[in-house]
Amino acid sequence: MSYNNILTETQDGIILITINRPKKLNALNIDTIQELHEAFDTANKDKNIKVIIITGSGEKAFVAGADISEFSDFDVEEGQELAAEGQELLFDLIENLSTPVIAAVNGFALGGGLELAMACHFRLASNNAKMGLPEVSLGVIPGYGGTQRLPQLVGKGRAMEMIMTAGMIDANQALNYGLINHVTTPEELLPLCEKIAEKIMRNSSVAIKSAIKAINANFKDGVNGFDVEIEQFGNCFGTDDFKEGTSAFLEKRKANFPGE
Ligand code: COA
Repeated sequence: MSYNNILTETQDGIILITINRPKKLNALNIDTIQELHEAFDTANKDKNIKVIIITGSGEKAFVAGADISEFSDFDVEEGQELAAEGQELLFDLIENLSTPVIAAVNGFALGGGLELAMACHFRLASNNAKMGLPEVSLGVIPGYGGTQRLPQLVGKGRAMEMIMTAGMIDANQALNYGLINHVTTPEELLPLCEKIAEKIMRNSSVAIKSAIKAINANFKDGVNGFDVEIEQFGNCFGTDDFKEGTSAFLEKRKANFPGE
């Protein structure tokens, strides 16, 4: 499939999705959100793709936010629709994908850009990255899940301060906050993501899918995460991957997971 605002490249079970509007610091306009939706959905359905990595093109930005020029004249209803549609099409979709998604934050991740990174399963950043939710400086609040996912990741007090001040934190502070898992040089960012992806790919993709469901259950209203864990744990016992994984261990050989 060909896209206008994003690039995709698949190699050895890993798809790299690159948001490609460098002149606009990869700001997320509606078309880009739609294309990302299609790319993530397609990748998730492809059994040969085991890990998704998302990054921004150019040296400056991952994503500098939602495209301000697109919503500056919106009214109340249009504002609500923008947030609801974006959350459903992209941010909730990514969080609940069964294929692991890693964000490679290669520069500014602001507003919708940080919200995009936070919807991913985990994040790495280059040492020049800057992260923040500056929406209140524009007279609005984060609308793509930022008020919910930032406190989940860094704690309520830090999220309150970041959102109220509209300030940016650097990669080391983000690491210290637990917002990202690793900091590296810009050159090493994608190689490090790939190295982690390779570790993930050695394991059962079926079990990983269950693990994502169980972990996410902890953050869903009205859902008992322990119950989901019990259900998903039990389900694993009915899979070929479980038979292969346990047999391989007992036979002292490397597992060759059949997957779904
Ligand atoms: N929406 C639309 N366009 C954006 C954008 C956004 N969120 N972020 C950057 N751009 C555009 C700029 O308008 C500029 O376009 P132009 O060259 O046609 O004028 C281009 O990207 C480059 O940005 P510029 O501001 O010139 O770069 P900078 O290095 O001086 O500043 C930032 C970088 C990230 C600090 C600054 O672009 C910024 O504050 N962006 C908005 C961040 C934001 O508030 N995001 C939350 C949105 S809800």
